[in-house]
Amino acid sequence: MLPSIEWVDNKVKMIDQTLLPHELKFLELDDYRDVAKAIKNMNIRGAPAIGVAAAMGLALATLEFKDLPKEKFLEKMEEAANVIRSTRPTASNLFWAVDRIWKIISTCPDNPLMISELVVEESKIMAQEDVNVNKSIGKHGAELLKDGDTVLTHCNAGSLATVQYGTALAPVRAAIENGKKIQVIADETRPRLQGARLTAFELQYDKIPVKVISDTSSGLLMKLGMIDKVIVGTDRVTSDAVFNKIGTYLVALAARDNGIPFYVAAPTSTLSLEESSDDVVIEQRDSKEVSHVLGKVQIVPDGVECLNYAFDITPFNLVTGIITEDGVFSPEELLKKYKK
Ligand code: MRU
Repeated sequence: MLPSIEWVDNKVKMIDQTLLPHELKFLELDDYRDVAKAIKNMNIRGAPAIGVAAAMGLALATLEFKDLPKEKFLEKMEEAANVIRSTRPTASNLFWAVDRIWKIISTCPDNPLMISELVVEESKIMAQEDVNVNKSIGKHGAELLKDGDTVLTHCNAGSLATVQYGTALAPVRAAIENGKKIQVIADETRPRLQGARLTAFELQYDKIPVKVISDTSSGLLMKLGMIDKVIVGTDRVTSDAVFNKIGTYLVALAARDNGIPFYVAAPTSTLSLEESSDDVVIEQRDSKEVSHVLGKVQIVPDGVECLNYAFDITPFNLVTGIITEDGVFSPEELLKKYKK
């Protein structure tokens, strides 16, 4: 797959994911405000990709303000950081990325021009790190997969949701690279259809066997013995639960009832183990995403209210293992290893 986001000639180049699978088009943005809009409108989405977009957005802001006196520069950068922070509330990576860039901005004693060079460099490093981390998740996760396995995934935690290679789809990619035959079943993932539009697109692009099912089918397929493992991504892991695309919790319940391992692929940039699930804001998006299919065909009568929570909470007791760049951990082991 192509990188979902890149820094090219002082612009942020990203695949416009709202147009997939019909059109593969790129946005080239040179204003941090447009990057913020792209995150909010989900032209770019997926926790790790959002994190890198946030860092690159701040890099654009430093280019815009680098000729200002340091005090004014800091004021403008704070404004930019707030705009970027306010785009989407649930994915940890957004805040992790802004904090990482902010550390450079606030501790560097040099002039704004120098800060800008450092921030641009750091955002490029973060993009490269993301790919390396995903490859490591792939290596560890591939050991969980047997030749011939069928893996169910929910939403898109693939190449498109990261810079490249993906988190939940990384073990699938790595196992196939190791010569195993693996196929993927992708939940369509209402209402934004990331599974149908994006997971199916990127796997087909890379010639990895994939079938799409309606979200309500996964329980039956598990009961019929058609699923060997579930692997999903995550937007935030707290001390007691995993936050991921709405519908993940029901998949985890069905997996538990059918004795199917339920794995979560999580780069450490997604861990937020100092908080509990009660501390997290679950994004609620425009109800039109539910009442109208892809914003076009209305399927709910006029005047009927729709609720559109974007993420749900899967408690640790339903999680078999969490795959990070360092290995595969039970929730208890994860807390022991990473909780400060
Ligand atoms: O609303 P989205 O499309 O940004 O949600 C994406 C997900 O829920 C992914 O599973 C998660 O971000 C992990 S991406 C590697």
